[in-house]
Amino acid sequence: MDSIRVIGGRPLSGEVAVHGAKNAVLKHMVAMLLAPGRYRLENVPGILDVDIMGEVLDHVGATCTRRESVVEVDVPESLNPEAPLELVRKMRASILILGALLARVGSARVALPGGDDFGSRPIGMHLDGLEQMGAVFELRHGVLEASAPNGLAGTDIFLEFPSVGATENLLLAAVLATGKTTIGNAAREPELADLASLLNQMGAKVDGAGTSTIEVMGVPSLSPADHKVVADRLVAGTYALAAAASGGEITVLGCDPGFLRMELRKMQAAGCDVERGDDWFSVTGPERPEPQDIATLPYPGFHTDMHPQMVAFLARATGTSLVTENVYAARFRYIGELNRMGADIQTDGQHVVVRGVEELSGCEVDGCDIRAAAALTIAGLAAEGETIVHDAEHIDRGYDGFVDTLRNLGADIDR
Ligand code: UD1
Repeated sequence: MDSIRVIGGRPLSGEVAVHGAKNAVLKHMVAMLLAPGRYRLENVPGILDVDIMGEVLDHVGATCTRRESVVEVDVPESLNPEAPLELVRKMRASILILGALLARVGSARVALPGGDDFGSRPIGMHLDGLEQMGAVFELRHGVLEASAPNGLAGTDIFLEFPSVGATENLLLAAVLATGKTTIGNAAREPELADLASLLNQMGAKVDGAGTSTIEVMGVPSLSPADHKVVADRLVAGTYALAAAASGGEITVLGCDPGFLRMELRKMQAAGCDVERGDDWFSVTGPERPEPQDIATLPYPGFHTDMHPQMVAFLARATGTSLVTENVYAARFRYIGELNRMGADIQTDGQHVVVRGVEELSGCEVDGCDIRAAAALTIAGLAAEGETIVHDAEHIDRGYDGFVDTLRNLGADIDR
């Protein structure tokens, strides 16, 4: 197990160019299964989840080759419609091959997904929607066996909640279904809009991605395309909060600040100086933040994947903040670790009560998951003394060159 060692107290300063979004590229790789041929993806981050998705694709019969930030995928005519348990367990996004394989091959065998440890993450909405399109499911020995005996047919689907994964699975299924599919109460995430843009480049007819109603007119076949992956707003937001928590300043390049509207607004309200351009923004942190009330919500609300990093920043606020987690039932393991650093944070149901303290003090903490590990590193940058974040591999799932990037910004940090 790797650890990140950080000595706090140095304000960060400088520029960071943001790499492509994990939550986009993983879906793009699955979308490529929809048509045989050779694809080229640019701006692909060097992160573990891309490697895992590459293994999933290999298993299905496609070949992925990476050269720096370019991934080329060769998809054969015939696919093995199966996702192995050991890979799906590692990464929940693998469940998306269900929609793609049902659309392309008419059947799929997918082990039920694992993923991060923040409460149960069911897939009922994925299955309900696919059933409405004509899919049939049977669960046998932990493996979901899916088929579409009469093919998939477009229909009107209205989601109970704007689930990102369910919207994407249905979108992947709908592009090759017969007729028109309407997905109401759809997720509006920029990464999903980027997926729709790749699908349209492949010849799909998708309208309204990025709004809460997506309309898809099915086409008989698609063809390969090249695509540049949209910037990772979560990486952008994490570095912005790291700089702010250290009392420093940062310019983030290559990311539309509109993707982080709510997050930047809260940073500004907390006392950060924020400047915005078309595809860049800069943040200068206050000496200590002012407390904030925040509720996580689907896009364009405050992103749940920015919640732990924001709490790490607010741990040193001049008063009490209330952060309400509305997306996941449990995303609180990092709190015990922050409290070991001297933070004063309690949970009450879905609410996180953060009583700001003047100083955090470095110690050994457990990284728990991707964003928790990022949050604890942020706390370490703001703390007095040395912090060791254990299980740092979690960081590799979503951040390319995390430690080097922070070191280049002036942090005293190593792995
Ligand atoms: C995606 C992101 C993840 C982010 C999340 C919310 C990827 C690879 N991951 O995850 O980083 O935190 O969006 O922005 O893109 N739910 C159900 N039933 C369903 C589907 C979802 O109850 O059928 C619940 C989940 O348990 C969860 C909530 O809805 O509590 C949000 O899930 P969803 O939006 O589907 O997130 P993911 O696509 O899994």
